[in-house]
Amino acid sequence: MNVLVTGGAGFIGSNLVRALLDRGDAVRVLDNFATGSRTNLAEIHPVSADRLSVIEGDIRDQETCRDACRGVEVVYHQAALGSVPRSIEDPSTTDAVNIHGTVNIFSAAREAGVRRVVYASSSSVYGDEPSLPKVEGRIGRPLSPYALTKLTNERYADLFSSLYGMTLVGLRYFNIFGPRQSPDGPYAAVIPRFIQALLSKEAATINGDGEQSRDFTYVANAVQANLKAASAELPAGHHVFNVACGERFTLNELHRILSGMVESPVLPVHGPARPGDVRHSQADITAIQERLGYLPETDMEEGLRRTLDWFRMGSRPA
Ligand SMILES: NC(=O)c1ccc[n+]([C@@H]2O[C@H](COP(=O)([O-])OP(=O)(O)OC[C@H]3O[C@@H](n4cnc5c(N)ncnc54)[C@H](O)[C@@H]3O)[C@@H](O)[C@H]2O)c1
Repeated sequence: MNVLVTGGAGFIGSNLVRALLDRGDAVRVLDNFATGSRTNLAEIHPVSADRLSVIEGDIRDQETCRDACRGVEVVYHQAALGSVPRSIEDPSTTDAVNIHGTVNIFSAAREAGVRRVVYASSSSVYGDEPSLPKVEGRIGRPLSPYALTKLTNERYADLFSSLYGMTLVGLRYFNIFGPRQSPDGPYAAVIPRFIQALLSKEAATINGDGEQSRDFTYVANAVQANLKAASAELPAGHHVFNVACGERFTLNELHRILSGMVESPVLPVHGPARPGDVRHSQADITAIQERLGYLPETDMEEGLRRTLDWFRMGSRPA
């Protein structure tokens, strides 16, 4: 199958690209390397490397998106600027990439007659909706520009399905972690930050009191969700699913679990709470289990062990 992975040089994208190559697909990557890297696509087995092509380009450019979608059966749209704090610092760029870029990809997919678009949404769309666990049909108001861009993507997907008869599947990722997630920079996610601090014997900083909780999800589960979203029998239209484990852990618990996996761990320190963060997050995964046959095969602890091993090996491509 010919497929396109936008953001394929990023964390989730590069894990997905490997899985697609492993099962024999021909994979085109579109990425501008804003936050992804060529290293993430390095050391792919020569047998499958022949089936990988990379377009260095920006989803904000419509022609580039058209070129990327030509001849493709499925689009896995992962490219975006992630991070709530980044979006609060610079809402314009997050808006341009995440909204305008996504509309370009949806339009290009329509023009190319793509069979299905699977795209990355986010648990952040639940915003200030307080109930737990989060059920797909019940969302609140977004708490950050990032969340608003992801919600807008979903609205556009609704429109594209009703106006043009397309089939689109939005995956609301809940705190995905694993190999190739960057620990660097001010916008790094919590698990690679904690791991890097623990391995270099430094105190990790926990934002706020650490009692905020998340449904941490190993990346292999997100990859599985993408593959199933592309192949499952679904009626034409727009479908949205939570991608998670269905459990939640506080940041304090997360740090304690990781500390138990390393020699002489350093105690964390607490910094100020971050604006725009939701307090608690936990998914109901009934819909994706029933409709797509998804199973979170790797639980959080096993995922943390694998991620730690990868960082210990010097973050080589796994
Ligand atoms: N990691 C998570 O926990 C999580 C949670 C919810 C949603 N998501 C979403 O999943 C997707 C993948 O996230 P990730 O964690 O792998 O992040 P990432 O930053 O590692 O990957 C994003 C990729 O998109 C590329 N990109 C950014 N702007 C681009 C542009 N203008 N044109 C082309 N490529 C561009 C980057 O270079 C990078 O390779 C994103 O849409 C993100 O919003 C991630």
